[in-house]
Parts: sequence; structure tokens; C-alpha cells
Amino acid sequence: MIFYFSGTGNSKWIAKEIAEKTGDIAESIVDMNRNGRVPYKAETGETLGFVFPVYAWGPPLIFMEFASKVIFDESNYLFGACTCGGSAGNAMEILSKIVPLSSGFSFVMPNSYIIGSDVDTAKEAAQKVKEAREKLPSVIRAIKEKKKIMDIKKGSLAGIKSSLVCNVFNKYATKTDDFFVTEKCVSCGNCVSVCPLGSISLVEGKPKWEGHCTKCLACINRCPEEAIQSGKATAGRGRYYFEKGTY
Ligand SMILES: Cc1cc2nc3c(=O)[nH]c(=O)nc-3n(C[C@H](O)[C@H](O)[C@H](O)COP(=O)(O)O)c2cc1C
Repeated sequence: MIFYFSGTGNSKWIAKEIAEKTGDIAESIVDMNRNGRVPYKAETGETLGFVFPVYAWGPPLIFMEFASKVIFDESNYLFGACTCGGSAGNAMEILSKIVPLSSGFSFVMPNSYIIGSDVDTAKEAAQKVKEAREKLPSVIRAIKEKKKIMDIKKGSLAGIKSSLVCNVFNKYATKTDDFFVTEKCVSCGNCVSVCPLGSISLVEGKPKWEGHCTKCLACINRCPEEAIQSGKATAGRGRYYFEKGTY
């Protein structure tokens, strides 16, 4: 079983590719949570994959919470695969503390964090996806052979980024105060259906954020009218989700 979390489709694509080529199944942890399939108990000898996007050089809190509930034993081969816009830091080590991974892989994919910087150009995004696609066969081979490999692009200052920066991010990540909708909103409700935590509802036809947020930015990036903004950061910036591209 391959578990994945994905706000804008990159990690979903990686999870599905690995599943297809290894004869496994990739399941969204959001669907599993909604369908009451948590905690998941692994079968003896089953391979378990944990696929997630890197947020502030760590795994998303929602993913950590899910992973902490998976029941496995030493007969299971555990691997992690993360997607990131540039570098993963020690995200895999953080996950390894609760799930003792035999292997871990990173894939550099188009940037979804439009609060921090603009989307990649179409050319940059296509190049990243091309390189990720080229990396997949060796990763799939390693998983099939149950190898013990850590192949992660950590980037610089991984220690500081994955502790200090990550902790600060996680402390404030659940806040939704900065989100707002402009007059471009057509009340389609897309944001409501793409929010993995079910934290958005339409009130008088406009989205209202309440409760927890994991900052996946699916609501902003996937809004068909580009009507959702976060503070002053996202005005004038592009929007990204994997399915939008023609890779
Ligand atoms: C809240 C947030 C934080 C992010 N932090 C990082 C980061 O620390 N390093 C990085 O390389 N990319 C970072 N990114 C970019 C994503 O990791 C990258 O685009 C990822 O592939 C998105 O996966 P998804 O499409 O499955 O949601 C961040 C994105 C978001 C939304």
C-alpha cells in the first residue's frame, strides 16, 4: 500500500506512478481518514510507501498524524518519497522518527508555495517534471528490490531549516486569517471540495475558512477564477497544480 498526501497533485502523481509500476495501490490519506480506514494495519511482509510534499523542510502535520497511526512490524518494507520545489532538508528524517524507513527518495517538482515565491515558469516546471520522470525507474527498481537507500536532495542548512524554520511554520501553519476571496469569486464551491481538511464552507456564496489548515494551498492554486488570495503575497502571482500542465 502506498499512502499519499497531495495539495496540488505532484505527490499524487509520484505515488500513482510508483504504484502502477510496482503493482501496488496508491491511496489518499484524506480519503482514508474520511472513510474511517485509519489506523491502517499492514499485512505481514507488505511494502508500505509514504509519499508527501515537503512543507518548510518537513512533512505536513496531517501526514505525520496519519503515519503515526499506521500499524506495521519488522516484516514490512517501508519507504518514503517526498516532492519539493527545491530541497527537502531533513523531512525524511523527521518522518523516519515515527516510521523507520528503509529507503527514502526526493523528487524536485514545480513549486506550489506561492505565498513564498511565484510559480515556476512553464519551461522550468516542464524540466522538473522531466527530471522526476527520469528518476522514477531507478526509484521503482530500488523499491521492488527492497533496497536500503536514502536518495534525498537536502539542500543547504538542512538542520536549521528542518528544525527552527519548520517548527515556526508548523506553529502558524494552521492559521487561515490571511485567506480572503476577491470579487472574482463565482461561488463555484471548488475550494470547498478540494480542501483536504474540510475546513472551507460557502457562506452566502463565498468561502469561509474555519478550523484546521495544513497550508497545502489547494484552495488558492486550484481556484478556477484565481479569486483566492493570501494576504498581499499572492496577488499578481501565478497558480499551479499538476493536472494543469501538459507533461
Ligand atoms: C506550505 C508549503 C511549504 C513548502 N515548503 C517547501 C520547502 O520547504 N522546500 C521546497 O523545496 N518546497 C517547498 N514547497 C513546495 C512543495 O513542496 C512542492 O511544490 C510539492 O511538490 C507540492 O506537492 P503537492 O503538489 O503534492 O502538494 C512548499 C509548498 C507549500 C504549499
